[in-house]
Amino acid sequence: MKPSFLHLGEPITIGQVPQDMLALTLCADRYGEPSKSMKIEKVDVPSELNDYEILIYVMAAGVNHNAIWAGRAKPIDVLKNTQRLDRDTRSYFIPGSDGAGIVWRVGPNVTNVKVGDEVILQSGYLGPERIIRNSREPLPNIRAWGYEVNGGTFAQFTRVQSYQCIPKPKHLSWAEASCFMVSAGTAYRMLCHWTPNEIKADEPILIWGGASGLGCMAIQICNMVGAKPVVVVSSPEKKEYCKKIGAVGVIERTAFHGWGKMPDIEDRERFEQWRKHVKAFRNAFYEALGERRNPTVVLEHPGESTFATSLAVVERGGMVVTCGGTSGYYGNFDLRQLWVNQKRIQGSHFTTREQCIEITKLVSDRKLNPCLSKVYSFEEAVLVHQLMADNRHPPGNISILINAKEES
Ligand SMILES: NC(=O)c1ccc[n+]([C@@H]2O[C@H](COP(=O)([O-])OP(=O)(O)OC[C@H]3O[C@@H](n4cnc5c(N)ncnc54)[C@H](OP(=O)(O)O)[C@@H]3O)[C@@H](O)[C@H]2O)c1
Repeated sequence: MKPSFLHLGEPITIGQVPQDMLALTLCADRYGEPSKSMKIEKVDVPSELNDYEILIYVMAAGVNHNAIWAGRAKPIDVLKNTQRLDRDTRSYFIPGSDGAGIVWRVGPNVTNVKVGDEVILQSGYLGPERIIRNSREPLPNIRAWGYEVNGGTFAQFTRVQSYQCIPKPKHLSWAEASCFMVSAGTAYRMLCHWTPNEIKADEPILIWGGASGLGCMAIQICNMVGAKPVVVVSSPEKKEYCKKIGAVGVIERTAFHGWGKMPDIEDRERFEQWRKHVKAFRNAFYEALGERRNPTVVLEHPGESTFATSLAVVERGGMVVTCGGTSGYYGNFDLRQLWVNQKRIQGSHFTTREQCIEITKLVSDRKLNPCLSKVYSFEEAVLVHQLMADNRHPPGNISILINAKEES
């Protein structure tokens, strides 16, 4: 008989599906900061499976900003969008773009996994029909599952497309397996994909938020190819953390005051202050690196606070590659720096399934550490997201146990 509900981690037979499950939800009448927008409540377990769909018993979920943006509904009301685009009838949104779990049920045409397999979920969503029509992944069409697609990992069960499942390396705990794919996949593509500006041995690289999810992955990826990662952080603790995981040099951003948009060129006084800020930051970069060379690649994600500085300090012919706007979405810059010095601005959004498999292999071969820093219980999910929204969360990657009882 179908149980109506299972408590977290309660023993269950593989394939058995209850009526209800616990999920972290967002609703239109609660939009705002995580402490207001997020709530753990009972909702229906997804019941129907299409040809290529899989029901996953979620063991652990990774924490990242997607749930925060979704809860703020700014700049996009993702719940409204999914109701319109996917004809999703749910009145709530379940976030969560990172996770790991057990294959619980499979749709009739699934061949790549079977019930009982342990998998990591990758969030690059192409839509159900794409996988049938195209074997290659057209990345510009990618949507972030658990953000732009409803029904993410912060729930006891989640329904995914078959191509989202990647076998879990045996040596990883559930928490480790759940925490790294969004940050590692994104950093990998930003640093290694955009030829001819991919990172190379001996080249200096500037990484904002060195102790962030993206930062801890980026430092390791730089070291893998012999590039020299210089990172920026906001506290001595984060400085120590970054040195420990392989940063060549660390700059503390609290020592500088010229952040934000560039002033108007006609505003002589403020423009002169801005130039001094860039000069001081460039010198700090040289000092941290130990030589007078500019970064050939800048890994950007704070956005409004840092973008103008990033473009000013990147080497001629170098690239500022960006995937986010944590501090704000409006960046400006001096166009002359772009054309005279032939610099490149590149947008980058998560990655492909192929690159997720490459990343998992690196983790499996122990060349890339998931950098799991802290594991929280499901009951603490709202608190952790609020810590992240306030930039008070632990360095590295973070996991929340869903059905897994303890990190093992
Ligand atoms: N498009 C994509 O596919 C994609 C994928 C992953 C992440 N992202 C985005 O990238 C951003 C970072 O993600 P994450 O997971 O690495 O987040 P995270 O772990 O929370 O790290 C964010 C980092 O940004 C730094 N930061 C915050 N405010 C800043 C400011 N005003 N100036 C300079 N640095 C600032 C902080 O470092 P310090 O305070 O130590 O300087 C913090 O460690 C988020 O906005 C996220 O949504 C996008």
